[in-house]
Amino acid sequence: MLRLSVLTFWVASSWASLDDAPIEGSLVVDDDCTHSDTCALNALQLKRCPFNFQHDVKETMLNMSAEIDSLNDKLVVLVAKAVRTSFKDDFSRLVRATSSAAAVLEIVAPRFITLTNKTSASLQDAGIDEFGGKAKEEQTSLLRMQRFLVDHAGEVLTNIAAARSNDGDTGFATKVNTAAQEAGHWIQGVLKVAWSTATDQLPRINALVKNEIVNTSDMVTEAACAADTATSIASLTTLYAQIVQAATDCDVRNKTLFSIADCESSALSVQTGISLVIKEGARMMHTCYGRDWSCAESMASASHDLLQAYNSLVVLGDSCKSSDPIALAVCESEAFQLSSNLGVAAGYIWKSADVCASSCNLAKPQ
Ligand SMILES: *[C@@H]1O[C@H](CO)[C@@H](O)[C@H](O)[C@H]1NC(C)=O
Ligand SMILES: *[C@@H]1O[C@H](CO)[C@@H](O)[C@H](O)[C@H]1NC(C)=O
Ligand SMILES: *[C@@H]1O[C@H](CO)[C@@H](O)[C@H](O)[C@H]1NC(C)=O
Ligand SMILES: *[C@@H]1O[C@H](CO)[C@@H](O)[C@H](O)[C@H]1NC(C)=O
Repeated sequence: MLRLSVLTFWVASSWASLDDAPIEGSLVVDDDCTHSDTCALNALQLKRCPFNFQHDVKETMLNMSAEIDSLNDKLVVLVAKAVRTSFKDDFSRLVRATSSAAAVLEIVAPRFITLTNKTSASLQDAGIDEFGGKAKEEQTSLLRMQRFLVDHAGEVLTNIAAARSNDGDTGFATKVNTAAQEAGHWIQGVLKVAWSTATDQLPRINALVKNEIVNTSDMVTEAACAADTATSIASLTTLYAQIVQAATDCDVRNKTLFSIADCESSALSVQTGISLVIKEGARMMHTCYGRDWSCAESMASASHDLLQAYNSLVVLGDSCKSSDPIALAVCESEAFQLSSNLGVAAGYIWKSADVCASSCNLAKPQ
């Protein structure tokens, strides 16, 4: 299965170096001691934590944030130059820079997304239970999507990178197709939950419309919840379409239509779409139920911007080489998009290092 192979890949490569020094017995590394009982429980649990949160997660994230920022600083200069002068030389310098930036993102983005597993974003929030079955189902699908993103993100980027040097690997397509078929099935369930949750919000929206809510603070909360629910459903619907598209684009049996480039770009869209849905879902957990899902939201936001930046890099690499004026216009606008995504991603990565606690804790921080 795809999930297993991704796991094997990561365990075998990048994580091996970070994980081979467990911090048995060390109690100083974790810092979630804001409440004395969680502090004591976390301290007990920590003995069994197979990684050093402070070093492997927090510091690693801060370093990633700095790395993305400095990458962006260099790109911004090249982008500004190319756009201002429109000299061919400046564009080819930009193209060269984008390909080295892509090499950085191919390493940083999957590593960052995989870190989600080591943060409190991956924990169940027991406080959701009191809001009833639908809220619980929502949480389950949210965590499941997050898991899907974590398990597949590395592979998508790795394969796009590999395919640039070695065309026509249909093995990847077959995996994406299988994953898309699976995802297509469960996302139908997720959509049903989302729709029924939205129906739950209807009385709130009616009350809003009819001006029945007099308390301003309540009104703001209800309105935010209704708006976030609507946004989240819109993104889910888009995601569903992206998954269907990926299943078609990655169908290697259809020899006339199949293109590995289309398959890869669809797979990347699915990852990007999922990260957006998680980001919005986490925000809903806050606006609708008042729960703190800031770690999940911030991790998903950073993942989303990293994936979008990667997509921009792929588009840039192709369009900036062209002499066609439309392609060059695409090149310019995508270059600004890239810079903005990288800047926002660096900010959210930094924020994640700040707000996330360890997944070895017994509970999400309150
Ligand atoms: C972060 O970067 C600093 C400076 O480059 C380095 O000394 C440190 O080991 C890095 N930490 C991690 C966890 O990678
Ligand atoms: C993330 O964590 C889950 C549950 O602990 C595990 O099954 C999964 O394989 C992990 N994924 C990665 C990529 O580490
Ligand atoms: C409005 O509702 C909030 C929370 O429900 C409450 O704390 C606040 O006191 C209420 N304000 C008024 C004016 O009733
Ligand atoms: C390939 O896809 C096209 C468009 O979806 C479809 O019309 C055609 O029947 C497919 N061919 C096969 C062999 O599945």
